[in-house]
Amino acid sequence: MIWPKKKLPDLQGIPLSLNGFRVRLRPPVLSDYEDWTNIRGKNKNYLTPFEPRWHEKALEKDFFQRRIARQHKDWKDGRAYSFLIIDRQNEKLIGGINVNHVCRGASQCGSLGYWIDEELQGQGLMAESLRLVIDFSFDQAGLHRLNAACLPRNDRSINLLLKLGFEEEGFAKKYIRINGVWEDHRLFGLINQKA
Ligand SMILES: CC(C)(COP(=O)(O)OP(=O)(O)OC[C@H]1O[C@@H](n2cnc3c(N)ncnc32)[C@H](O)[C@@H]1OP(=O)(O)O)[C@@H](O)C(=O)NCCC(=O)NCCS
Repeated sequence: MIWPKKKLPDLQGIPLSLNGFRVRLRPPVLSDYEDWTNIRGKNKNYLTPFEPRWHEKALEKDFFQRRIARQHKDWKDGRAYSFLIIDRQNEKLIGGINVNHVCRGASQCGSLGYWIDEELQGQGLMAESLRLVIDFSFDQAGLHRLNAACLPRNDRSINLLLKLGFEEEGFAKKYIRINGVWEDHRLFGLINQKA
């Protein structure tokens, strides 16, 4: 298969938008800094048990700018796709989804990472957001497979993946360093049935 199937929008000034009923997803831009640092700061205690250890400057502007530059370059190179989740009711930033570690060649796969504001959990907003990213990954980015890895204690995330059609495929010991500790993970996969 030749990638990409369709030409992906160049991020320089052309904001791609994935529109659902309650959420809109788009790549982050520099002007998101205030909203991003506020929501990530507010959710720090909630999110750190599930994420790689935060850099000490993780909420600072320089860090965010470097992050955006890297994310835009990765997008352009077809190596990763980053999205922010916007609540369509009030235009507020409420979370994020990344398609990381995109492998092309004979693999055509990517790995999902996602988070949402603790206050808004359990309302199906992440399920709706992930469905948009799954469609983007398969229909626009031309991926054949999405991978996801969950801490065995992260029931909420595991149930969400199963609800979206992911299948459990394995168990990886000491797979990702979460908050400073190498942690075992349950592995899930979703295959693009159209490609
Ligand atoms: C994982 C996370 C993104 C889920 O977001 P969410 O808003 O709760 O997701 P949704 O509401 O769209 O879907 C929730 C689904 O999870 C399951 N779920 C909800 N609450 C649950 C709970 N307390 N225990 C177990 N499963 C639960 C259900 O299957 C639910 O589906 P339903 O709507 O049919 O009931 C969110 O909890 C989060 O940001 N967690 C911290 C970061 C994280 O864990 N990221 C993923 C790393 S693998």
